[in-house]
Amino acid sequence: MPSLISYARDVFRKLDENHFKVLRIIERNLASYEVVPKEVIYSETGLGERAEKLLKKLNEYKLIWAPMGYDRGFCINYYGLDMLALKALVDRNIITSLGRPLGVGKEADVYDALAPDGGRLAVKFFRIGRTSFRKYERHRTSLVTAPSHLAASMRSARMEYNALRILHPAGVRVPEPVARNRHVVVTELFQGIELAIVQSLSKPLEILGEIIVNAAKAWEAGVVHSDLSAYNILITPKEEILIIDWPQWVPPSHRMAREYLKRDMSNLIKFFRRKWSIRELPEEYLDLIKKACGESFLM
Ligand SMILES: Nc1ncnc2c1ncn2[C@@H]1O[C@H](COP(=O)(O)OP(=O)(O)OP(=O)(O)O)[C@@H](O)[C@H]1O
Ligand SMILES: [Mg+2]
Repeated sequence: MPSLISYARDVFRKLDENHFKVLRIIERNLASYEVVPKEVIYSETGLGERAEKLLKKLNEYKLIWAPMGYDRGFCINYYGLDMLALKALVDRNIITSLGRPLGVGKEADVYDALAPDGGRLAVKFFRIGRTSFRKYERHRTSLVTAPSHLAASMRSARMEYNALRILHPAGVRVPEPVARNRHVVVTELFQGIELAIVQSLSKPLEILGEIIVNAAKAWEAGVVHSDLSAYNILITPKEEILIIDWPQWVPPSHRMAREYLKRDMSNLIKFFRRKWSIRELPEEYLDLIKKACGESFLM
């Protein structure tokens, strides 16, 4: 299966304005059609039957597909959506090129990228629903995608970006948000590895304290992570923390907010107890947790 890197390198530069126009029209019309009929594409591009050739190319590159057959019409795939997002980010001078994968997971792929000033960025592509199509993909070798999954990925990207825009100025240790387009979020890049796989920490109790302080700050700022685990905390070489992966956050007014915060906190404390043999938590940490979670927080 081709990777997004090879798409960004080989396919992206073969696309001209008309290809992007067709992709955008398919994207837009998926709100009203299950598959976008050729006729709609012919008329909305203003290219008439000349759009046929473009559709063939896009289909060949596997940026679009025809789930009900070529004559019924087209859907866009994740790679098609990626090309549109990359195009927008390149045109807006946010990034110039995509680098190596930093994390390829279930719900998202994260790549490093180059900014026009030579700086490096992290680019997260949401991929909701991808796994459920794996079996099917083996036969099709394309990133087959249901429109509802594309919409869910775009929503997740918006959610994550909004959280970062609240949290970063509030001084919570999160990557600085740089831009968002469609299902893609661009942030500051960090050197760091997931807490879950860190082999040594000089002061584990202090790291746990940092996480608690930051979760409490996030609560004050109006954000509860709701999926906080040792996989969503990066540790930098200087042993600073960074809390990532925020698409599922809720505000403190959410009816489950306290429950989610409690769950986040107790998962982390359990992790530190197990892996770093931490017994007693300092009073100040407990106070912080209790302030946000309520007195009923059980250790
Ligand atoms: N700003 C960043 N700087 C450096 N690496 C990052 C950054 N953001 C994410 N990563 C890397 O990408 C991985 C996945 O990121 P994230 O947790 O945001 O996505 P995810 O949705 O959890 O993906 P997965 O399905 O793999 O869990 C992280 O574990 C981390 O290794
Ligand atoms: Mg994660």
